[in-house]
Amino acid sequence: MPVVAAVKKAFTNIFVLSWDVSLTLINLVSPKRKIGHVTPKGFPGHDGKWPEYIAPSSEDSRCACPALNAMANHGILPRDGKNISFKELNHAIRTTFNFAPSFCFFVPHFSADMLHKPYSKGTFDLEELSLHNGIEHDASLCREDVVHQPDQGTPHLPFIKELLATATGKDAEGNPLLTPADLSAYSSKRRVDARETNPEFTLSFFHKMFGSSNSSTLLTILGGRIKDIEPFLVDERIPDGWESRIRAPMGLTLMTFNRTVLKVERGIDEKKYLASENETAQAPATAPSPSS
Ligand SMILES: *[C@@H]1O[C@H](CO)[C@@H](O)[C@H](O)[C@H]1NC(C)=O
Ligand SMILES: *[C@@H]1O[C@H](CO)[C@@H](O)[C@H](O)[C@H]1NC(C)=O
Ligand SMILES: *[C@@H]1O[C@H](CO)[C@@H](O)[C@H](O)[C@H]1NC(C)=O
Repeated sequence: MPVVAAVKKAFTNIFVLSWDVSLTLINLVSPKRKIGHVTPKGFPGHDGKWPEYIAPSSEDSRCACPALNAMANHGILPRDGKNISFKELNHAIRTTFNFAPSFCFFVPHFSADMLHKPYSKGTFDLEELSLHNGIEHDASLCREDVVHQPDQGTPHLPFIKELLATATGKDAEGNPLLTPADLSAYSSKRRVDARETNPEFTLSFFHKMFGSSNSSTLLTILGGRIKDIEPFLVDERIPDGWESRIRAPMGLTLMTFNRTVLKVERGIDEKKYLASENETAQAPATAPSPSS
């Protein structure tokens, strides 16, 4: 990397981190947004009214990320998923999901760098984001590995059903909730299975953290609620009346998010999953299963 570009990148990172710390502190001392008032007035989803959902046609561009696809399916991003500017993406994720401005700046910047495009003037089609081992990586929770499925733009329903069925939490009304431990357990399973079935399997430390970041979105922005996660992952649709579960006035910062990500990632244990799988296989048919 040329020196000028490297220095610029270092300064950008320092700037984003300091900004993020300030926003985290402001959140700590400010009252939360009121329930029902998280999505700002004048933006799609205010009062729980989301623009119409239209499932994508085969002409539309979609990527491996359910949240961005959902935005295109509701017309919050262009419905065809094409020619989206990085800046437009920044503003749209801020109001739709209540990620902090530092987060909303960081993610499109990272994507622009990955695609070797300029952040300020660049545009992209959603499918470009599925560049393998850029953001997209093996052992995903809602896509088959790219070796098995070159089209990363559509959900793999068997994985999603399996994931939803692992929820062990309950909210105050008794509705099922996905917990950090559930996500760690299912991620362990996916990593073991992908390693066994994908001859080209790779998963760097960076992509492990990235994968756990996705999972953490289900816990933070979606509050772990299966009732909301199901339409988000299955149809890539935002349910009527939905709003982000992040009520912090400055939104979800990278620093706050990191705590959930680390919890999920640290809980992932492929050896433990393998051991439980062997036990299940060897247990006599009449014995109670090890999980009960
Ligand atoms: C993409 O969008 C820009 C405006 O953001 C527009 O000027 C340009 O013509 C569009 N390109 C295509 C191929 O639609
Ligand atoms: C996380 O999201 C990216 C992009 O949306 C996807 O390609 C990747 O496979 C996901 N990882 C997991 C563990 O779901
Ligand atoms: C999040 O955690 C990772 C891993 O410990 C660290 O490299 C990164 O700098 C952290 N980011 C923030 C914004 O705290």
